[in-house]
Amino acid sequence: MDFIRASQEILRKNRRTTDGHQYTVPSPDTYPYQWLWDSCFHAIILSHLEPDAARAELRALLSKQLPSGMVPHIIYWQPGELHHYEWGTQGTSALTQPPMLAYAAFEVYKQAADYAFLREVYPALMRYYHYLMSERDPRQHHLVGLINPDESGEDTSPRFDHLLGVPDDINLHDHLARRLKLVEQNRTCNFDASLCMSEHFWVKDVPFNAILVKNLQVLGEAAALVGSEEDKHWCALQAQLVRDAMRDRLLKNGVFYSASAVGGNYELIEVDTWAHFAPLFAGLYTKAEAEALARRMRDPAEFWGAWGLRTVSAKEASYRPAPEGPADVRDGGFWRGPVWMAPHWFVYKGLAAYGLLPEADAVRNAAIRLIETSGFREYYHPDTGDGLGATDFTWGALILDMMHI
Ligand code: GLC
Repeated sequence: MDFIRASQEILRKNRRTTDGHQYTVPSPDTYPYQWLWDSCFHAIILSHLEPDAARAELRALLSKQLPSGMVPHIIYWQPGELHHYEWGTQGTSALTQPPMLAYAAFEVYKQAADYAFLREVYPALMRYYHYLMSERDPRQHHLVGLINPDESGEDTSPRFDHLLGVPDDINLHDHLARRLKLVEQNRTCNFDASLCMSEHFWVKDVPFNAILVKNLQVLGEAAALVGSEEDKHWCALQAQLVRDAMRDRLLKNGVFYSASAVGGNYELIEVDTWAHFAPLFAGLYTKAEAEALARRMRDPAEFWGAWGLRTVSAKEASYRPAPEGPADVRDGGFWRGPVWMAPHWFVYKGLAAYGLLPEADAVRNAAIRLIETSGFREYYHPDTGDGLGATDFTWGALILDMMHI
């Protein structure tokens, strides 16, 4: 398969221009707007193919940055019915998503030593990470909090079940209704993060904070190039503080667990999901811990399906590798077990950085095989390789970044 051509084709097919802004929709039928972490993935992919389009993608995202510095998780550039929930007031959502912006911008810079671009986006990036470290960490514990599961990018992950009060076999319809109820509660708090978190939903999530550490490190490199010494030190310090806080508060028996912070107490959410592997991306495990984790990753009874890395351990009662049942009460699939391409990319990057090359290759090769067999789909059945969810979904193009093309 010609991955370059196939990836370019899908990104071009999903490219849109509105009000002079060019961006890429994750899937034309299912996700017809601009999403935050998706656009970061697009920019990483496009940095290899079409740097102009990569720059445009990030500029479009940042054009809707809120005065607080927050970057919204959805920008509704064009009117549409699908997923157009009232979870914001400015033509965007009032939630955010995993903070991949600095990493994506730096990749774009690196491909062409484009200092001008880095200098252009740098102030907005600094504002965003300052927002996260202040508004989302009101008690200064150095862990950023989420106000809604959708901010994790894993909308229906069972990591959030307990806090949402939903059962293992929750259907997707009821799950969405529950999250939208939370949005209503967030709205009554006027999306004030500190209030939303202390009143309704406060999760210190592992992938989000691990991604934050890596991005703060990268932002520090950007600061060294186009910012100030003061910014550089701020980034390094924040990265270290989050890293230390994760190890102090979220590490148990060699793996990181997310924690609920509602009520002021930390309660670990001991659900086994791919979140255990996400901190590899930021180098948060010791070498020995990473090696043990890599061995655990390959256990077919837990995370390793014949077709790749499950997002939820097969031993969890909530594990559902594919959607089942009539459309209105469909249960399973989505973030409750299937293989997704972005987790593959994060884990691949992490394992490779630790020098765990056979395991990294296994993750990348599984991704290649899935795309060759089932195409660019939203997610895949870990045991059969069937493509599931949205079609013409862009994340498969991350394979280019795993193949070092
Ligand atoms: C779903 C995914 C989320 C993604 C969005 C657009 O909501 O859970 O991670 O950003 O679709 O692709």
